[in-house]
Amino acid sequence: TTVVADTGDIEAIRRFEPTDATTNPSLILQAAQQGERRARLGEIARQAIDIDDALDAVAVEIGSEISGLVPGYVSTEVSARLSFDTEATLARAHSLIERYGRHGVGPERILIKVASTWEGIRAARQLEREGIHTNLTLLFSFAQAQACADAGVTLISPFVGRILDWHKAQQPEADFSGENDPGVRSVRQIYEHYKGHGYHTIVMGASFRNSGEIVSLAGCDRLTISPALLGELAETHGTLTRRLSAQDAETRAPEPLDEAD
Ligand code: E4P
Repeated sequence: TTVVADTGDIEAIRRFEPTDATTNPSLILQAAQQGERRARLGEIARQAIDIDDALDAVAVEIGSEISGLVPGYVSTEVSARLSFDTEATLARAHSLIERYGRHGVGPERILIKVASTWEGIRAARQLEREGIHTNLTLLFSFAQAQACADAGVTLISPFVGRILDWHKAQQPEADFSGENDPGVRSVRQIYEHYKGHGYHTIVMGASFRNSGEIVSLAGCDRLTISPALLGELAETHGTLTRRLSAQDAETRAPEPLDEAD
């Protein structure tokens, strides 16, 4: 399993040395408020024409710095406000890629994060045809995963924690630990389906609430993990840089299904 840091925190990325990094608008906002970057990024935001422009400018500024630290992809999200508008998503994605280009970061290093709505998946299909790689986020169901595979996207981020949050809210007394975690079960089902059918789309579990969920899903293509949980895992599993070994994690790595299944 390739380890991905779910953060815009440059110091955490230096510390954990992940292969890739994923960001979203709230992670960018947190990162932009840290230390000596705050004043410089504040100035960049002030020069923007509107709030979306400001967010994109700061996200690309931080993303470009991260691209110098990780060997793989940096994910930058199109505002979730545009999730139900294909044309607006396409325009925003093109503008992010153009901004990265001005920083000398090519499209091969970037994953544009797009919501896994019908409109978002249509935008992603178009972007992939243009050679722009996409990471389909806010993915909570098997149906969304199937539509993303059909669209030929580069990567999907099926969520774990937000599925668990929802189930816990419905049934506060229930035991959702270990293999009863509905988020873990959802990602495993998607992963097995993808491998069984030979889809090339990368499966990257996201939105973790505890290290047990991560250990349960070791064996998945990639997992994007917050610095807090990376720290916890590094303590329990020793060095955790760039790869999480399925054996170390005592996991039940998902077995690919036969084509006939
Ligand atoms: C990553 O792609 C997601 O933005 C992130 O994992 C979401 O996590 P959350 O459910 O804790 O917001």
